[in-house]
Amino acid sequence: MKRRFTGISFLVVFLVAFGAVLFPSGNVAAQTCSALELPASDPRVGVHGDPDLRCFELVPVPAAVGRATGRVELLHAAGPFTVRVTPDGEHVWRLRVRLDALPEPAAFDEDARAYVAWATTPVLRPFVRLGPVGRGEQVVGDVGLDKFIVLISAEASDTVTERRGPLVLRGTSPSMRLQPDHLPFLLSEAAGGMDASMAMAGAGAEGKAAHAAHGDIADPNDLASSNAWPHPAMPDDIVMLSGMMPRLPDVAPFTPAPAPAPAPAPVDANAQERANAQARAYTQAPGYTPASIDLTAAPIARQQGAGYGFDGGTPGPTLRVRQGSTLGVRFHNRTELPLTVHWHGLRLENRFDGVPGLTQEAVAPGGSFDYRLTFPDAGLFWYHPHERADIAQDLGLYGNIVVDPVSGDQPNPVHVEVPLMLDDVLMTVGGDAPMPHGREAATHALMGRFGDVLLANGRSDWSMRVARGSVVRFLLTNSANTRTFNLSFGVDSVKLVGGDVGNYVHERWVRSVPISPAERYLVEVRYDGRGPHAITNRVHGIDHVMGAFVARVDTVGLVVVDDGAVAPPPAHRYGRLRTYAAVARDIDAFREHFERPVDRTLLLRMEADSLPFPLDRLMRLDSAYFHPVEWAGTMPDMNWILSANDVRWVLEDAQTGARGHDIDWDFSLGSVARIRIVNVRESLHAMQHPIHLHGQRFLVIEQDGMRNEDPVWKDTVLVPVGSWVDILVDFSNPGHWMLHCHISEHLEAGMHTVVDVR
Ligand code: C2O
Ligand code: CU
Repeated sequence: MKRRFTGISFLVVFLVAFGAVLFPSGNVAAQTCSALELPASDPRVGVHGDPDLRCFELVPVPAAVGRATGRVELLHAAGPFTVRVTPDGEHVWRLRVRLDALPEPAAFDEDARAYVAWATTPVLRPFVRLGPVGRGEQVVGDVGLDKFIVLISAEASDTVTERRGPLVLRGTSPSMRLQPDHLPFLLSEAAGGMDASMAMAGAGAEGKAAHAAHGDIADPNDLASSNAWPHPAMPDDIVMLSGMMPRLPDVAPFTPAPAPAPAPAPVDANAQERANAQARAYTQAPGYTPASIDLTAAPIARQQGAGYGFDGGTPGPTLRVRQGSTLGVRFHNRTELPLTVHWHGLRLENRFDGVPGLTQEAVAPGGSFDYRLTFPDAGLFWYHPHERADIAQDLGLYGNIVVDPVSGDQPNPVHVEVPLMLDDVLMTVGGDAPMPHGREAATHALMGRFGDVLLANGRSDWSMRVARGSVVRFLLTNSANTRTFNLSFGVDSVKLVGGDVGNYVHERWVRSVPISPAERYLVEVRYDGRGPHAITNRVHGIDHVMGAFVARVDTVGLVVVDDGAVAPPPAHRYGRLRTYAAVARDIDAFREHFERPVDRTLLLRMEADSLPFPLDRLMRLDSAYFHPVEWAGTMPDMNWILSANDVRWVLEDAQTGARGHDIDWDFSLGSVARIRIVNVRESLHAMQHPIHLHGQRFLVIEQDGMRNEDPVWKDTVLVPVGSWVDILVDFSNPGHWMLHCHISEHLEAGMHTVVDVR
């Protein structure tokens, strides 16, 4: 690993010799897959998502050449979420097999009477029977394996449980293109050496005086200066490219001023007790927020170090109001950054939406602003700054809004209701302070800022105590900059009740909840067992250099079930799944639009034209395969040094080619539109985007060709790589509304536009 290759000739040989093979040219997909029918509206995506990521060819064994062909499609089986993952974090696909020109099985073995499909992994374990297959197209079942192989064999009967007969066709999942690949290593090592010698020759001299440029080599003597960057914490089980190590972002570090001593009370240490007290209060009789309040953003001492809080806490106070009420908020900015407050998900008056430069000017340090909030919808909402959210929200400025219904469906009676805001914090390599942010522009512009410490309600040690038999309703909000969580609750399954803007029509059991930044979900959980139950985030990240998936398990919080106390039986049967009639009526009024053609198509992609070498090369290599979701920050070095100056994340109107704020979308008040959002795979780097539309609500009605039978009102939708999602928007609120990716660093790197409703 530590061998260092230097010399440009070595590099050139490598690039010429392997470039053609390894730099994907876009035609990796098999012929049968590229023949997939494409919708007229957008030639870039297949009916069931990107053919290169969602389809693979079945290749005949020599004896079957010319006699059998086929393909496998990875379908998204629609459900409550736009990603389907196991509780452990493997993506689940519904496999559809198409077989052509297939002779009778006896052609391969005289005893064979049937063809059977199997799935297995590169190490041939487990070996899963998918079922009998024949000529034509058939869905064979669901597979939740990171990398897999599909085999078709000729068998004596279609009921065999073990593969005995001859193999006829086989193919490998697109994720198999992630291979242990040492070339990036060599390139990086070589380039690191090259950069070092160039820097010594003075090539880095045009580096900006105030801070380090990309090519600069970290000088340990700099660490004393206020402009010196510490290094971010690195996962200890992932190999880093040493060629990356000396590089720094092209912006200066920003660290918030510490809270003045004594820190404003109540300090964050009480957040957990406050949350518990609040939780109890809600259960007995909700304590409503008065009709007008002050809300102050100021420096606080967080558990992890210096940060910001609303009214002295992270999260800030939970605002609890009745549907249809009005709340006046006088916001005070006592931080050193210009700020606004955005009331995420509320269909409120446009001038109170809190978007700097669009609905108001940012509130200068020391200034204040009066918001008037209205709450037409019951549900779970949240508030956060919209100016440099990559810093301000990440430092701890966020809080929940709970809007109780006044009419219509009342929530299930539960023992405890707890708002749980999920977040993460990136610490420095020693782990003793939060990593600074980019002063002039956001760092981590590639994948967003993944933290290494996971938080619930601002704490890394959040816990609550409940009596045995308690039913807990968790109000989940993801306030992280970029991390999508896959949350389990320490029990087999939980009841999924609601989403961003209200409840599902039908409750259902789920084993885990994938939740992307800015999304909300409501789940009810019964705790019958004794002792601690860990709320965990379980995902599979990608080790980009080794081409492997790596499991990540993090405890986000603890629910401790008391030994003695037993909760009285709840006032409704937890085991029964309920229907919300008022939600059903509301959504039924929009069903006539479910069949309407696509009105607009929005493409999501990324661009970068002057990436430092060898990042550009590495990213091209890396683009051989993109996972639907990047669940973990597994290339923190490369990710960190790219700022919003280096990378452009793009929203593009597929019909006109207009981008960002040149997109000229207006809709008339009261209209309904179907907008297709396509996460384009042909991108230097592709990743999931949680797309948020301000001031309106929408239903996710279709994804990758699969109708969503039980949509919920939302304002943020997670669009996985290679997927397209159709949202049906209820344009019910006039004004100029932001449409953007809720990964803070993507927003900073240009991924936004404005939609007008008149
Ligand atoms: Cu939650 Cu434009 O944001
Ligand atoms: Cu994004």
